[in-house]
Amino acid sequence: MSTALLEVRDLSCRFGGLMALDGVSFSVASGEIFGLIGPNGAGKTTLFNLVSGLTPPSSGSVIWRGAAITDLPPHRRNRLGLARTFQNLRLFDDLSVLDNLLVALERHSRSSSIDGLLCTARHRQAERQRREAAWQLLEELGLSALADRQAGTLAYGDRRRLEMARALGTDPALLLLDEPAAGLNPAEKEGLCALIQELRQRHRLTVMIIEHHVPLLMRLCDRMAVLDFGVRIALGSPNVVRRDPRVIAAYLGGDASGETP
Ligand SMILES: Nc1ncnc2c1ncn2[C@@H]1O[C@H](COP(=O)(O)OP(=O)(O)OP(=O)(O)O)[C@@H](O)[C@H]1O
Ligand SMILES: [Mg+2]
Repeated sequence: MSTALLEVRDLSCRFGGLMALDGVSFSVASGEIFGLIGPNGAGKTTLFNLVSGLTPPSSGSVIWRGAAITDLPPHRRNRLGLARTFQNLRLFDDLSVLDNLLVALERHSRSSSIDGLLCTARHRQAERQRREAAWQLLEELGLSALADRQAGTLAYGDRRRLEMARALGTDPALLLLDEPAAGLNPAEKEGLCALIQELRQRHRLTVMIIEHHVPLLMRLCDRMAVLDFGVRIALGSPNVVRRDPRVIAAYLGGDASGETP
């Protein structure tokens, strides 16, 4: 029996004359850490855009817990439990770290604007819960000492973790991370790896992660897919993928040992 949380079925995306994705299919099981690798321009971010609903596919479908969500807008998919971070971070640079997080939590909360206007007890309680949830997330992501800092002044690694906190604030079942380790030094990359595993446990997450650092991804992931020119050229456990001749030829430059290409 399939326990797929997410399935992409024969997904294609054409930009003018360019097939950014060409008939890509795979499924992601609940609880998995699923990696996506491929050279620059292979279609990885496009795939995330199709899964999160930012870009409509040219054909194919996105299936969530067995039901098609291909036509749903991003906020509806977010409500269903899909959240993502962006390759180019999207934070409010002028707001504090805490406020960046509160905005994300507020957007997701269901307390009505009437409650807010009237400042009802229900609204005050929701507000208190949001603050507690925000502090808890800041703690988990090692950002609580930076809560009052303007997001624009943070170091790169802290900014990336704040984006993760914002995505986690919507209480997702599936977290899509687009190159969360980009720009981090080796020690920070290791720390991030451990953090993702920890968050998976604590939040019962399924994670899809795009990452160019192949050894890190191979250590982190249960399974992975490899894209090349929009086509899925390999799928399976890191051990299977690293021995795949098409992957070696297309991506790992003749060395699939797991060392940095
Ligand atoms: N909105 C768009 N309009 C036109 N072409 C696009 C658009 N978005 C992506 N592309 C093109 O589609 C292809 C796939 O892009 P995508 O960003 O998905 O690659 P990627 O695998 O994420 O690459 P990278 O590793 O550099 O982030 C590229 O050739 C890109 O230029
Ligand atoms: Mg990309």
